[in-house]
Amino acid sequence: MSEVNHTKTVRVALAGCGVVGSELVRALHVQGPRIEMELGVRFQLERVLVRRIERPRTVAFAPGVLTADLDAFLATEADVFVEAIGGLEPAQRIARAALSKGRPFVTANKVLIAAEGEDLCSLARARGVDAHFEAAVAGGVPVVRVVREYLCRGPIRRIRGILNGTCNFVLTLLERGERLEDAIAEAQRRGFAEADPARDLDGRDAADKLAILAWLAFGVSPRSLALRRRGILPDAERLSRGASAAGGRLRLIAECEAFAECEADGEVVSASVEPIVLASESPFARTVGEENRIAIDAGWPWPIELAGPGAGGVPTAAALLADLIQATTSRAAFAPHVAFAALPTADHASNHVDLRVHAWLIGVRAGLVREARSRFADAGIAAALAGATIGDGWLITAPVSWSCIAPVLRSLEADGARPAVARLETEELRVVEEPLPLIAVAVGG
Ligand SMILES: NC(=O)c1ccc[n+]([C@@H]2O[C@H](COP(=O)([O-])OP(=O)(O)OC[C@H]3O[C@@H](n4cnc5c(N)ncnc54)[C@H](OP(=O)(O)O)[C@@H]3O)[C@@H](O)[C@H]2O)c1
Repeated sequence: MSEVNHTKTVRVALAGCGVVGSELVRALHVQGPRIEMELGVRFQLERVLVRRIERPRTVAFAPGVLTADLDAFLATEADVFVEAIGGLEPAQRIARAALSKGRPFVTANKVLIAAEGEDLCSLARARGVDAHFEAAVAGGVPVVRVVREYLCRGPIRRIRGILNGTCNFVLTLLERGERLEDAIAEAQRRGFAEADPARDLDGRDAADKLAILAWLAFGVSPRSLALRRRGILPDAERLSRGASAAGGRLRLIAECEAFAECEADGEVVSASVEPIVLASESPFARTVGEENRIAIDAGWPWPIELAGPGAGGVPTAAALLADLIQATTSRAAFAPHVAFAALPTADHASNHVDLRVHAWLIGVRAGLVREARSRFADAGIAAALAGATIGDGWLITAPVSWSCIAPVLRSLEADGARPAVARLETEELRVVEEPLPLIAVAVGG
């Protein structure tokens, strides 16, 4: 790229200087001279908001830049506001204040965008600027831009992904025989997992990211997306063992898919975040550790696949920096996917029943397998024996919708059978005949 003659100074207000924010500060410092030379933009940190001003920092600031005063931060004369705090407040207040002033807003915050992204983008449009949130989904993997810009003429049929690196890291350790608490502790030791990893393991974090992608791809309001969310707790170890017994590997998969149910109703979108047993050699099964992977089906012979570091300070800050550059050097206003124009965003999915059918792998307490099988038979669902692991017997159902198996699962739960459930997508189902073989699996605790 050639050098530019004029340099424009862009004043940046940054909220949050933790794992991600501090890496953005470092990136601005290290890459600033080259950005200035190539793009003619000099980013100048006007103010950085933190909670504890006395906390030791790994990056240095000019006097007066660091503040813990939210009002002073909001009053900052800045050309762009970046938010890397997380959660709804004060992130939402910062976003609204920035956009109301006609300043672009850049964020890494999926909770904020899943809950308020629609309103924030409307506010941004009304002020002729944009809200940028590449870093909010899959960290350093540029999926937002691919869906929002590259594939913006659609149609997108399906997006599925491993969107939570912490959960995937834990599942990878479980399939190597580690205990759940040791796997979580290791994720925390390596800095992937929060002190409370519940949002990662129960699927809420992936659900927020999926809601953002479904919004961009299909125009479904994140708030009204009908989404079935089942995380890996409390049955992660059992399910992991059951997955190996069925000849596959367990992953927490986020998926949204558009169907044309009937001409009159137009398309409906089904979405889920749930454990799926995948064929061991499939790309998602081979996605190990904290990696993220997304496959986008645009109706082409193969899906577009993106994979990479879904978290971590450096990759996430790179996504923030890319957005910061786009926000301040491009005139492009909000560029939604074509689905935005085609579909109403309100109540789109509220009456929608998920009709997707799948085979299900179901573990029940050893000794109750035959009873479970006859309950499925009573509900008209064929269920074959799939093996046993210590403490559990496993069944594989014929392909049926979730709404068909859910009542049977509830009745088994009520009778103490402790059903553990994953969708099954192994190509060759490993169905066994009676008597159930005992599959030797090391069980901790
Ligand atoms: N970490 C990742 O790998 C990753 C990946 C993708 C996206 N994200 C997203 O990036 C955002 C930041 O994550 P992070 O890991 O950098 O978090 P973090 O390390 O906990 O840092 C949070 C920062 O926000 C500041 N802060 C917290 N509450 C505040 C408040 N009420 N007022 C003012 N400042 C406040 C903290 O101040 P102190 O420094 O004084 O404590 C800290 O500087 C989140 O939305 C997260 O979901 C993170």
